[in-house]
Formats: sequence, C-alpha cells, structure tokens
Amino acid sequence: MTAFESVEQAGKALAVQGYLTDQRLATMVYLLTRLEKPVLLEGPAGVGKTELAKSLAAATGRRLLRLQCYEGQDEASALYEWDYGKQLLYTQILREKIGQLVADAPDLHDAVNRIGEQESVFFSERFLAGRPLLEAVRSEEPVVLLIDEIDRADEALEAVLLEMLGEYQISVPEIGTFTARRRPYVILTSNNTRDLAAALKRRCLHLFLDYPSAERELDIVRSKDTGLPEALASQLVEIVRGLRELELRKSPSISETIDWARTLAVLGVDELTAPVLSDTVSVVVKYDKDVRRALEALPRLVDPNAEIPEPDHGHGHGHGHSHEPPKVSADRGSRSFGRAR
Ligand SMILES: Nc1ncnc2c1ncn2[C@@H]1O[C@H](COP(=O)(O)OP(=O)(O)OP(=O)(O)O)[C@@H](O)[C@H]1O
Ligand SMILES: [Mg+2]
Repeated sequence: MTAFESVEQAGKALAVQGYLTDQRLATMVYLLTRLEKPVLLEGPAGVGKTELAKSLAAATGRRLLRLQCYEGQDEASALYEWDYGKQLLYTQILREKIGQLVADAPDLHDAVNRIGEQESVFFSERFLAGRPLLEAVRSEEPVVLLIDEIDRADEALEAVLLEMLGEYQISVPEIGTFTARRRPYVILTSNNTRDLAAALKRRCLHLFLDYPSAERELDIVRSKDTGLPEALASQLVEIVRGLRELELRKSPSISETIDWARTLAVLGVDELTAPVLSDTVSVVVKYDKDVRRALEALPRLVDPNAEIPEPDHGHGHGHGHSHEPPKVSADRGSRSFGRAR
C-alpha cells in the first residue's frame, strides 16, 4: 500500500489498526501521504501523537524508524556515525597489506601520503553506521520516520533536520549525498515545551492534536476492550473531561482514561461513586497537588447536585470517604481541602 486514496480510506485504515481519528486528523494523514510532506504534531502528553506514527506504519505496511529526541543530543546519533570499531578491526586484519603499502616509503611524510590516498576505503559506505535519519533516506523500502519529542532536543538538531525535511536527502561529506528512493512519511511530535524554529515549521504540515471530543474518547475507550460497561465508560469519560477543566499540573490524557476504565473494570465496579473514584484517582493524576484538587472535585463531577462531604482530616492522603454516607457538617468548613472557587 502506498498513499491513501481518500480521507475516509485513511481514517478507516488507521481504525483497523486501533487508532481512531476525527475528520481533521484523517485529512492530515491523507495529505501527508499524498503530498509527502512531513507532519508536525503538537499537543499535550498522551493524546496519541506517537501512536499515530506507529499506526500509520502498520496501516501502510511500512517499517517504522524512530528518532527519540533528548536534551544534549548530538547530530551523530540522529544522522550517522563512522563505525570506528569496524574500521579498527579492518586495519588490524589488514595490517600486513597496509605495511606493504608503506614499506618502501622513503620518509614519514611519504608514508602518510600513501595512507591518505587510501582514505576513501575507510570512509566508505561500508563503515557508515546509519542512524534513523540516514536509514530513512537509505532504506530500500519506503518507511515511516517518527521524530519524537523534537522540542526536547536542542535547536542545533532542528537545523540538522532541515535538509532532510525539505529535500529528503542527507549529505555525508566523505561520500556524497544520499537521496531517498521513496520518500518516507515523516511525523514529528512536540509537547510544546519550547517554540520550534520557523524554518522547521515552514517545511511541515502542522496539526495541533488536543484532547478528543467526548464521543471520540468514548469510542477509543470502547475500542480498547477495557471491560467497563458502556454506561460507566461514558460517565467516566465525562468525569475525566471534568478533571481536565481543573488547572492541574498534568491533565489526564487518553491513556489515563483507558487505564482508569481498566482499573475500575478489574475492581468489578458497577456504579461510579465519588468514593470508588477517589480510591483509584492516582491512576489518572500523578502529582500530589493534582490529587488533592481532583479529590476535591470528584463528588461534584460524579453528581453536579451532590453536597460536598466534609473531609475527615487534613493530612493530604486519606481522602475521607468514610463508611458513612456523605453528609455536610456546617462548622469546620474550610479546614483541609480549602475549596477554591
Ligand atoms: N486516537 C487514538 N486511538 C486509539 N488509541 C489512542 C488514540 N490516541 C491515544 N490513544 C491511546 O493513548 C495512548 C497514549 O498515546 P501516545 O503515547 O501516542 O501519546 P503521546 O501524544 O505520544 O504522548 P507523549 O507526549 O506523552 O509522548 C496510546 O498508547 C493509545 O493507547
Ligand atoms: Mg509520545
């Protein structure tokens, strides 16, 4: 399979791989395969940026090459390196042959020159260790290239990418320029921790991937066979959406919704109540402060008309869903979870 024939076909092919798109995303994928232009996906963690590249590879039968970016990354780990170990091994095995070459050299200068003339032998493709970018260009079969979390790398690496993204080629000074036989489908992802260079953005189609609509999120949860009954899954999606409205340090993402659904299914929960959600809330929010905010909001999210129960103490953990039904006590109001807004 090469390019998709329509937006619908792109969406369907991804769905077969378990990746559910909306119209906007399916259109972008369709264009990526038709225009063969890189796509830059920006958006919060866990909204399916990486997963899209994997699913696209599976849907098009292409091999996935992945460049995981990190701070301080040098270009050698992205482009290529000379395989020093192999070069050394060859020179050792060929020691005699090399010795003959310089045996009758009148002086050191001449010997060095003779070795220098053979340099191209050791700086040839044989000794080139391709890293993901070069591999994507050199590959016999077309590939999907995922450049993941580009915002973590330094700006210098972005500059290195430009030749690749614009022309699908990579120059190795000692050898020449490699140009892709078949253009790779390139997906870059960013969590927006910093602005990317305009030159990079210009070379890409751009898509901001946000949290999905309730409907699509429910579809995704459903597609993962979490074991949670439909009605509860639907309610859970709404609750997670409610948590996203709180100003949390790290909002729960799609993967957290899925994890929560699985957790509740394993517990055999048949009704979503504030206590049962509170007990498992650490599946979806991971920072202490966020947990406290979530605990405070849950009763309201489960039932907007609920009266907020009085937490029984104020030591952070122990969220005080007790064995008694929730009741409101008038005094001691704002001691522990100080209700913001
Ligand atoms: N559209 C989708 N269809 C099906 N599953 C999805 C979809 N979006 C996200 N998921 C699920 O969410 C999980 C997390 O997605 P992924 O790892 O791709 O997020 P991400 O955006 O790359 O996050 P990060 O920025 O943290 O790397 C996936 O493993 C997948 O199970
Ligand atoms: Mg990712």
